[in-house]
Amino acid sequence: MDDNFAHRPNFKTSARHISAFLSYYFFLLLLFALHGQIITAEEGDTSSNATAPAPSSPAFECCSASPPSNSSSEPQPSDFPNLKQYNAYKVIQRFKQTITCDPNGVTSTWVGFRPCNYVGFFCETPPGLTNTPTIASIDFNGFRLCAPTLVGFLDSLPDLALFHANSNNFSDTVPDLTSLPFLYELDLSNNDHSGQFPSTVLPLAQLKFLDLRFNRFSGTVPATVFFLRTDVLFLNNNLFSQPLPADLGSSQVSYLTLANNAFTGTIPRSIGNASATLIEVLFLNNRLAGCLPYQIGLLKMATVFDAGFNQITGPIPYSFGCLLKVEQLNLAGNLLYGTVPDVVCRLAVTSNLANLSLSGNYFTWLGHSCWGLIKTGVLDVRQNCILGLPEQRPKAECVRFFLHSKFCPLIPYIPCHLPYWWFKGGVANGDAAPPPPPSSGYKSYSALHQPEGN
Ligand SMILES: *[C@@H]1O[C@H](CO)[C@@H](O)[C@H](O)[C@H]1NC(C)=O
Ligand SMILES: *[C@@H]1O[C@H](CO)[C@@H](O)[C@H](O)[C@H]1NC(C)=O
Ligand SMILES: *[C@@H]1O[C@H](CO)[C@@H](O)[C@H](O)[C@H]1NC(C)=O
Ligand SMILES: *[C@@H]1O[C@H](CO)[C@@H](O)[C@H](O)[C@H]1NC(C)=O
Ligand SMILES: *[C@@H]1O[C@H](CO)[C@@H](O)[C@H](O)[C@H]1NC(C)=O
Repeated sequence: MDDNFAHRPNFKTSARHISAFLSYYFFLLLLFALHGQIITAEEGDTSSNATAPAPSSPAFECCSASPPSNSSSEPQPSDFPNLKQYNAYKVIQRFKQTITCDPNGVTSTWVGFRPCNYVGFFCETPPGLTNTPTIASIDFNGFRLCAPTLVGFLDSLPDLALFHANSNNFSDTVPDLTSLPFLYELDLSNNDHSGQFPSTVLPLAQLKFLDLRFNRFSGTVPATVFFLRTDVLFLNNNLFSQPLPADLGSSQVSYLTLANNAFTGTIPRSIGNASATLIEVLFLNNRLAGCLPYQIGLLKMATVFDAGFNQITGPIPYSFGCLLKVEQLNLAGNLLYGTVPDVVCRLAVTSNLANLSLSGNYFTWLGHSCWGLIKTGVLDVRQNCILGLPEQRPKAECVRFFLHSKFCPLIPYIPCHLPYWWFKGGVANGDAAPPPPPSSGYKSYSALHQPEGN
């Protein structure tokens, strides 16, 4: 059982795909902490009392004297390196009493007066203090602990900066975390949380990483979520069922996954406001409808745009030809129709587009540059209504679809400057497209895999 943890690096997350990303933050934290310790050491050198062992100074023991009969059974503050660790000890022991399953036996290490050594707990000196290490991060990833609530635990460790607890069996609502001024990473993915979106995370100004995927949260996502300054927002695989907030585009998030919920309504036009920051966005597999707003084409940083398997209709706006960084563009399994725009297919020749998934729609024709992409496997237009191509829908199905009136306008507006040759018949031979990027390694797609317990 100890082997499970012997080689466990600090802050390792069992969601390996994001570990590199997270370690960047850990690195920053470490730098900060080291900086603090260097200052402490320098101050200590000039102090005449530098070598005095602060934790168990005799003066302290003398003044907190209690009847001998009782001091041996009940830990006293003087037993701990500092008062913060004593307080953390009490919080952890109280939480330990509520744990109903612990298949890896980690709580058996939660004994003694050194909580920094407990499995899953890591200490740093909080910002603004010197030489006062206390619980600053918790990594329970994959521990599969069961506890009825985190209330009274998570919210009672005031110096916490990271809480990673994917693949446990924590339930109930998320505690009010507004008393944790340093919290910047919260991973509660793959637990048993339910109820409304935990709005107590919304005032957390420091929060950079919020991962709530694979729970049973339901109802609406408050618009203010998109005012958080998080880089990563993973909400996929829950039961959210309301329209997306109209000002979703206020978000500064880089990686946004809303996949595998039941969101309704249209993709908000405000999404164009996120053009400077949004890198990967997954609307995959919801119940979104309406037309594709041309503002999607403003997402000049986007490498992944995936709105597959919804009920979105209309033609593809020409503005999508401005997605100059896009590598994965998935609109499969919707109600799209019209001609696949030539400017979009050209992204595979002149830019980075490596996968254009449009199968299962009602497209009737392809732009000039699209035909060649079928052979190279970049473009998938199976199960559409394109005359002369194999694997299309039965004619009757297409006829039935086109009997219904169509309300989405074709928007030929191209909100970016494309080179002149873009509009000519072909691309010069010398202008070879860059090699396709590796198809793995997308943070958003990785988030769709359920984290596994150890
Ligand atoms: C060192 O300790 C003595 C008594 O314990 C105290 O009076 C003095 O201020 C301390 N000096 C420093 C630099 O902390
Ligand atoms: C220990 O002693 C203190 C007073 O010295 C008392 O308040 C406390 O209840 C005692 N604890 C136990 C467990 O007897
Ligand atoms: C999680 O806890 C619930 C009860 O709270 C229990 O029914 C379920 O079996 C637990 N799951 C695991 C994997 O332990
Ligand atoms: C955000 O987008 C909406 C709709 O496109 C627009 O009306 C609004 O002015 C934008 N806000 C900012 C701050 O750019
Ligand atoms: C292209 O994207 C679709 C939708 O995300 C995916 O199912 C398919 O496997 C991808 N194809 C390749 C070759 O990566």
